[in-house]
Amino acid sequence: MSLLIGRAPEGVHISITGLGAYAPEKVVTNADLAKLVDTSDEWIRERTGIRERRFAREDEALSDICLPAARQALERAGADPKDIDLLIVATLTPDMFVPSTAAILGNQLGTTDAAAYDLSAGCTGFMYAVAQAYGMVAAGLSHKALVIGGDVLSKILDFTDRGTCVIFADGAGAVVLERVESGGFLGFELGADGAGGGELLMPAGGSRIPASHDSIDKRLHYVHMNGREVYKFATRVLVTSAEAVLAKCGKTAADVDVYVPHQANTRIIDHAVKRLGIPEDRVIVNVDRYGNTSSGSIPLALADAAAQGRLQPGKLVLMTGMGTGLTWGSSLIEWTEEVAG
Ligand code: ACO
Repeated sequence: MSLLIGRAPEGVHISITGLGAYAPEKVVTNADLAKLVDTSDEWIRERTGIRERRFAREDEALSDICLPAARQALERAGADPKDIDLLIVATLTPDMFVPSTAAILGNQLGTTDAAAYDLSAGCTGFMYAVAQAYGMVAAGLSHKALVIGGDVLSKILDFTDRGTCVIFADGAGAVVLERVESGGFLGFELGADGAGGGELLMPAGGSRIPASHDSIDKRLHYVHMNGREVYKFATRVLVTSAEAVLAKCGKTAADVDVYVPHQANTRIIDHAVKRLGIPEDRVIVNVDRYGNTSSGSIPLALADAAAQGRLQPGKLVLMTGMGTGLTWGSSLIEWTEEVAG
């Protein structure tokens, strides 16, 4: 077994210098979904903690919800789009297969000539993308990177499947990464277990079952999930991944000031919080208002933490994502001032 784990080398300080988030305007309550499938507000709140979520309009695609988040991150970093040399979009619901949503957004934002590509690691996508951008900035390849995490999962939900349509939703967030004088990322841990890939998947639309296939069953274009297995996996890796990155960085759960877990559901988060021993008042939870927005979840939660004044310079912030793949990933960052914030 070989983990991708590491801590920032001595003297390397790379941080988030701008943060942005956006969720579509349309609010969908549990009562709205109870009109479509056999469920209830009580069941959804009890099992997931979700009260409402945002869904994109029919004419809204991923880039439409990422654009405002990206513009906000650039503005808060005081960054000119022309200074961005790397743009990564973490998502499992791109605008289209080709070209990448990153290239589409680069054109809209004016990140002229910046390298741009999409990254697929499900709900862990944002953590993977941040780690990649960190590595490129640390190596001197990139000087200012824009990382966007976003998903419009409502577009691939089966609104006859009560096991998935009440959980997933739409939202996006973005961060600017660059070198700073002190503080910043302390370390990362990322992993994947492809043996669990069948527990959470959208089978069609790729080269295995092309969308153009004559006999295609429409349901293969929807998300399918084995909720119980994903639950077991999620509760396990939220704890093990956080413990691994903390140990690697010489920290303990007691040192964590702000804990930003992937907003999958409150039962999974509560379980991790208890096992890790992080006081509840240090945990950011907004799944009640946004549902599970996959790649958008961690940056949306970070933006909430910032809006509440909880991301002060010097605070130790732990982020952990987990999702389809199956994948997981954590990072530890000593928060620094947003440059223009
Ligand atoms: N409303 C009412 N009843 C429901 C619903 C619903 N929306 N969904 C399932 N049920 C029923 C089931 O059919 C089942 O009925 P049965 O006993 O008659 O067969 C009963 O509720 C219990 O089903 P379980 O699947 O055992 O319910 P559970 O307590 O496990 O909760 C849930 C289901 C919420 C999906 C849970 O398994 C879970 O949270 N799993 C993790 C899902 C997740 O977070 N995925 C994403 C993480 S990774 C990522 O973000 C990509």
